[in-house]
Amino acid sequence: MQLSSKHLLGIRQLTAQDIQLILDTASQFKEVLQRPIKKVPSLRDVTIVNLFYENSTRTRISFELAEKRLSADTVNFAVSGSSVSKGESLLDTVNNILSMKVDMVVMRHSATGAPHFLSKHIQASIINAGDGINEHPTQALLDAFSITEKLQSLRGKKIAIVGDIMHSRVALSNIYLLRKMEAEVMVVGPPTLIPKYLQEAFDIRVEYNLLKALQWCDVANVLRIQLERQNQVLFSSLREYNLAYGIKKSVLAQLKKEIVIMHPGPINRGVEIDSDVADSQQSVILQQVENGVAVRMAVLYLLAGQRES
Ligand code: NCD
Repeated sequence: MQLSSKHLLGIRQLTAQDIQLILDTASQFKEVLQRPIKKVPSLRDVTIVNLFYENSTRTRISFELAEKRLSADTVNFAVSGSSVSKGESLLDTVNNILSMKVDMVVMRHSATGAPHFLSKHIQASIINAGDGINEHPTQALLDAFSITEKLQSLRGKKIAIVGDIMHSRVALSNIYLLRKMEAEVMVVGPPTLIPKYLQEAFDIRVEYNLLKALQWCDVANVLRIQLERQNQVLFSSLREYNLAYGIKKSVLAQLKKEIVIMHPGPINRGVEIDSDVADSQQSVILQQVENGVAVRMAVLYLLAGQRES
């Protein structure tokens, strides 16, 4: 079995079969990660550059670990300290790196479409680790993996995505993935943070009342308010946001069932989620991070196989 593309630019470009193949392969790598020796030789002859033009903790470390567990050679590039500050263009930077014989590029960039642009100009496989407010495909894949671990499958499951939908690449990638895998999706948050086009474009539900959304769902995927991407006032204050949309023990106590709480991180305690919820048994936030390594191993492994064919 092979993926339908040599790049991972977004979930938008994947088929349901691609997604299933990545999730199944990730299960096998998760098993490898439980062994005393967590390393396999699969990518021994592959060189990967991690190109991070935007801040990252989890995603960057997770990709680096996934590459190391697969025995790839890796180089890391961070914009601060590079020649980007001397005015070099993205394409020039990447072409210079590729002339050193690099096979795959993992990239995060603040501009929507940056990895798509590069994929048209270079030979190496590109993996999008987040492009602006567009997509973050490996996050959606690890979220899907984590949901499947808890609820066995995605089809027919009810997922509420809570918060700043408008500025979140995690939300968009999750919506693409969950709809392709026939899960039901609801977005919930203040009307100013939910784009109007979503409901029709993706056949999803929109809700402005948090309690109603939580009563409906099996899983709540809670998002950070992306203040760095907002150039106008979209809600009154973080305190009021927390009162209306923050996930609290008191709100969860009103539900008749126990729902799964997810968050891609970084969490802002006391804003979109309260500490006692984030640290509770219901939350799978740290399992998501753990699963991220297995899922990224699967993506790298499958794309490397694609290159040779
Ligand atoms: C997200 C991101 O950078 O898009 N974080 C992540 O990758 N785990 C979400 C966020 O920054 O809120």
